[in-house]
Amino acid sequence: MKLSIIGTGYVGLVTGTCFAEVGHQVICVDNDAAKVKTLLAGGIPIYEPGLEELVKKNVAAGRLHFTTSTAEGVQKSDVIFIAVPTPPQPDGSVDLSYIERVARDIAAAITSYKIVVDKSTVPVKTGEKVAETIKRYCQAQVECDVVSNPEFLREGFAVDDLMHPDRVVVGVRSQRPVAAMKEIYTPFKAPIIVTDINSAELIKHAANSFLALKISYINAIANVCEAAGANVQEVAQGIGLDDRIGKRFLNAGIGFGGSCFPKDLSAFIKIAEQIGYDFKLLKEVQRINADQMERFVKKITETLWVLKDKKIGVLGLAFKQNTDDVRSSPAIDLCQRLLKDGAALRVHDPKAMEKTKALLPNVTYVDDMDAVAEGCDALVVATEWDEFKKVDLARAKKGMTAPIMFDGRNLFDPAEMEKLGWIYKSIGR
Ligand code: UDX
Repeated sequence: MKLSIIGTGYVGLVTGTCFAEVGHQVICVDNDAAKVKTLLAGGIPIYEPGLEELVKKNVAAGRLHFTTSTAEGVQKSDVIFIAVPTPPQPDGSVDLSYIERVARDIAAAITSYKIVVDKSTVPVKTGEKVAETIKRYCQAQVECDVVSNPEFLREGFAVDDLMHPDRVVVGVRSQRPVAAMKEIYTPFKAPIIVTDINSAELIKHAANSFLALKISYINAIANVCEAAGANVQEVAQGIGLDDRIGKRFLNAGIGFGGSCFPKDLSAFIKIAEQIGYDFKLLKEVQRINADQMERFVKKITETLWVLKDKKIGVLGLAFKQNTDDVRSSPAIDLCQRLLKDGAALRVHDPKAMEKTKALLPNVTYVDDMDAVAEGCDALVVATEWDEFKKVDLARAKKGMTAPIMFDGRNLFDPAEMEKLGWIYKSIGR
């Protein structure tokens, strides 16, 4: 199939690349000339495991192209995917101005029948607006079908999620675009759910909100465990083995972050409000998430007593492991809280230090994770990177004024840490 993807961010670039990988002809469009230049020169603007090799391979095979021209993308393809940002506004609602702009650009460029597919996360009923907008601004008076096809990829596992999706959701107004959508997705060998556009749009917000709810639920259980002297990991295992609950997304910690969950939750609460439903359950999910950080900071201050002039080593800046993304990262929030109380920070992250420098200019960046605790009064784990489990604990302990660790991601075994002589505080254990 001849496809174009408008917007070459995380979703657009990975989607376009994976479509090329299964044999489609793909044009990735972005209005950021510098980004397109980087991509044309073989560079990748984001860190995503496996992506660079796949981009190079498909560019070399002549299946993956980059341009700044939406008109070129539209005219040379049969199916156009919209993958532009839908950022939050101060009141939690979604800024749809990029989507509207692209819909108008597509309308101006169309000269024959096209399928326009929305991949960006959008409020329910956006598809109707996109269809209306294209119809209004299209001079050529040609037909066009709008489809909703939400993306469920996780950063850090994006290529794998794209290549092996659990399901593909296709929201349509008529049957006409269904065959083409099935042809695009058949190589991915996943169940394809064909539904109406509004339901497809809701599936995305409902899925992300449910996952966020699952995290807040286990964090609430962690707080009960702490009060009761129980262990949240054992409880999570005990409930997670029930298939109806499932083992995944039951890791207690300092809360969820990233560019999706916080934004999608606020958006969904707002969408529900606008159509007349007060989604109190999701408001509580947000509250628990914010409270989780407060409780962790309290744990640190209760132990260290005075934070002013204390030196704290922080492992982790990214919002989760396997990414350099620091957008809405709980780890950054935590650093800002500790700085505000007067602590000095030595920080390390395997991938996210560059992207953090503008956000946290007044901390010491340490390249070697084993050296982070040097001269510190406490060591904090803020992101669940697997490699932190291998930090040189003996060296860390020797270099610290006192061996205190606050583990916000439950990476270490409390009994083991105690045996090694650490004052060790984690979440829900
Ligand atoms: C999420 C969804 O998983 C994905 O399907 C959707 O398309 C986009 O949003 P992503 O934002 O990449 O993906 O991150 P995810 O892996 O879901 O983690 C989100 C946050 O939750 C992270 O801050 C992570 O640390 C936290 N988390 C996750 C927990 O605290 N506990 C868990 O058990 C799982």
